[in-house]
This record gives sequence, structure tokens and C-alpha cells, in this order.
Amino acid sequence: MTKKRIVLAYSGGLDTSVAIGWMKEKLDVEVIAVSVDCGQGGEDLQVIRQRALDCGAVEAYVADAKDEFANDYCMPALRTNGLYEGKYPLVSALSRPLISKHLVMAAKQFGATTMAHGCTGKGNDQVRFEVSFTSLAPDLDCVSPIRDLSLQRDVSIAYAEEHHLPIETTKHNPFSIDQNVWGRAIETGFLEDLWNAPTKDVYNYTDDPAFAGIPDEVVISFEKGIPVAIDGVKMTPLQVIQEMNRRAGAQGIGRIDMVEDRLVGIKSREIYEAPGAIALITAHQALEELTLERLQLRYKRQQVEPTWSDLVYEAQWNSPLKKSLDAFVDFTQEYVTGEIRMVMHAGRAVVDGRRSEASLYDFKLATYDSGDTYNQAAARGFIEIYGMQSRLAAARDVRFGKGIELAASHL
Ligand code: ARG
Repeated sequence: MTKKRIVLAYSGGLDTSVAIGWMKEKLDVEVIAVSVDCGQGGEDLQVIRQRALDCGAVEAYVADAKDEFANDYCMPALRTNGLYEGKYPLVSALSRPLISKHLVMAAKQFGATTMAHGCTGKGNDQVRFEVSFTSLAPDLDCVSPIRDLSLQRDVSIAYAEEHHLPIETTKHNPFSIDQNVWGRAIETGFLEDLWNAPTKDVYNYTDDPAFAGIPDEVVISFEKGIPVAIDGVKMTPLQVIQEMNRRAGAQGIGRIDMVEDRLVGIKSREIYEAPGAIALITAHQALEELTLERLQLRYKRQQVEPTWSDLVYEAQWNSPLKKSLDAFVDFTQEYVTGEIRMVMHAGRAVVDGRRSEASLYDFKLATYDSGDTYNQAAARGFIEIYGMQSRLAAARDVRFGKGIELAASHL
């Protein structure tokens, strides 16, 4: 009888490497290891693939999803200025639905009926994987060896040594790191004490902003909310992000140290570095300031952006509400075309120039010089009506003895 097949989200690290043999033993299954390249850099993915086979996988498959991640996940996040709790550019939250999609495709291709991931029971990523699997293929089962089959860290290390698995278990990395082209997330270790400052070795995408080099001026061209060129050189979204990671990273831009609210109710300390994402969001916001109509801009900033970010963080990438908000954002980006100039230096990207054919800024209305077209006389009547309710409320306060105290106490 043929064995049941499981598709495993494989990172190449200790836990998922051991999980291959562990699931084979405990569940009597065949394991297909799938790695998805979202631009994480680091180890060569062919080396990772071979390791999965050496650890006992029947098939190992590496998907190059870098452009897909940049185009279909990072660009919507940029157009929405997606920042969870106002700060975190959703690095891991964006990649999980894409990784899930490639895992589900592999499951169909290799005839697997169950999905597996290496998450613990404490984080957001388990929820993102499993909700994504459900929304893409409701018929598939899911198992987490660490959470459901008691594969704890010490068990993993002992198992790897006993079975002579081709993974270096001695070199203990104190952090849990997840990275892709949109940024890098670092947690656990000594950072769990909220009073401990991150040490230099925590960072990899950014140089220390305290030792700033010479300022770097950059011009980013956008078309409908998508960056299409840097300093006049046309680029794909992936190339734009990579180039901005390099240049903004060299200026120490995009370091974030925060306590965030996880979906499972835990508050946790997180360090992120996302130089390209933060610099691009800064530029994109600046272009929206001159191209979006006031009410549309306010509604997007106050309602749509935080809600979209919460939904993406909370594993709702494929949900109807998130898709509806995508349609809203899409409509708003029609005129977000133009150029933003920024100076990047010492940890900050500061916008100092903007231009757009679709701008709503009207020099003749804004100028204080002569020759303006604004009808100042009309302001008087506008204010009389606009201030009506303030006048009524103030008069009522006076009637009830609650008027604003105007006696000058120092006289
Ligand atoms: N806290 C972040 C999030 O939920 C980052 C998670 C990173 N994952 C990891 N295994 N280190 O999106």
C-alpha cells in the first residue's frame, strides 16, 4: 500500500530538518520538503534542497518566488502603507500566504493530503499557514511537528546527533529569525528582557545609524502607487526593493524595536529591520499627500490602512474584507504617479522634493504672493457657518455656568 504523503514547509534549519525523520517515524508517511524563496538571501537553496533529501525527504522542491513576492505581496503592502500597530511593515505576515500557496501547489503536484510547518503554538505564523491552507484547499489536513508531535528543541538536537543528520547543531543561534526581501524579524534570546537593548549582531540589513556616512539623495518615480524607477533608471519592483535595501540600509534606515500584540494574545518584543520598505513607504505617503483628495486621504489613513494591516497580520490575506480593501486601495492609486526626492541619512529618510502631473497642489491657490486666484473674501462667510456649532455650544456652556474662565490670574 502506498504511504500517505505530507508536504513540509522546509527552511533548512534544525527543527524542520529533524521534522522530516520525526514525521516519518511517528506518522508513517512520506515527506516532501518545499522551500520558497521570497528573497531571504543567506544559504543557497540548492544546498537546502539537498539537505532535505539527505534528511530523508522523498522529494525536495525549491520555488523561486522572489518576483511574485515583490509584485503581488510587497507592492500591495506599499500601496496601502501597511504598518501593523503603526510600525511593523508586515514582513513575515506577507510571506506566509505566498509560501502556503506554493505548498498547496506542491501538495497537488505530488499527491499529498497533509500539510506541515515548523511553527510553535505561540506565534502568529501557525495561524497564517493554517488559515491560508484552509482558504486555498479546504480538504487538506495540517500538522505541526513541534506543536502537535512534541518535537521540542532539546529533542531535535538529540535526534539530529543520534541520526547523524547533516545539520550543524553545535552552533547555537540565540535568535529566531525570519527574513525576506521586505525585511527581517528577530526575536527571543536576551531580547525577551524588555530592558535589554539590541546588540550589534542582531542587525544584518542595516548599518548603525549612529555612524552615518555621507547623505544619500534619491529620486523615486511612481506609477499608480508602484515604484518604477530609481534616479531615472527603470526597475522591476523586486529590483527597486533590493536597491533601496542596499542604499537605505547603508544609512541605518528602518530599524524598529517594539512590543507588539500577537494574534494569540501574547505581547512580545520584536526587532525588525526593513530599510527598503520603510524608505519606500515614506516616499509613497509623501506622493499620496499631494495626489489624493482630502477626504479620500483621511479615510485611507484612518480607516483602510490600519484595518488592512490588522487583517494581514491576523492571517486574513485571502479574506473577503481584505480583498474588498484591496479594491479600495486600487481605486485610490489611479493618480499616485510622480516623483519623490528624499535625503537618506543617519537613520532617516526625509522627503524634500515632490512633483506630479496629477498633483492637486495649486500654486496659484497656495501662494501668499500677489496674483493668487483664491477668493479671500469668501473665507469670511465660510467661517461664520463653519463655526456655528462651536458658537452654540459655547453659549450653552455660559448658560450652565461652565464657560471658559477668561480672567487673567496674573493681573
Ligand atoms: N512577530 C512577527 C510576525 O508575527 C515576526 C514573526 C517572525 N517569525 C519568526 N519565526 N521569527 O509577523
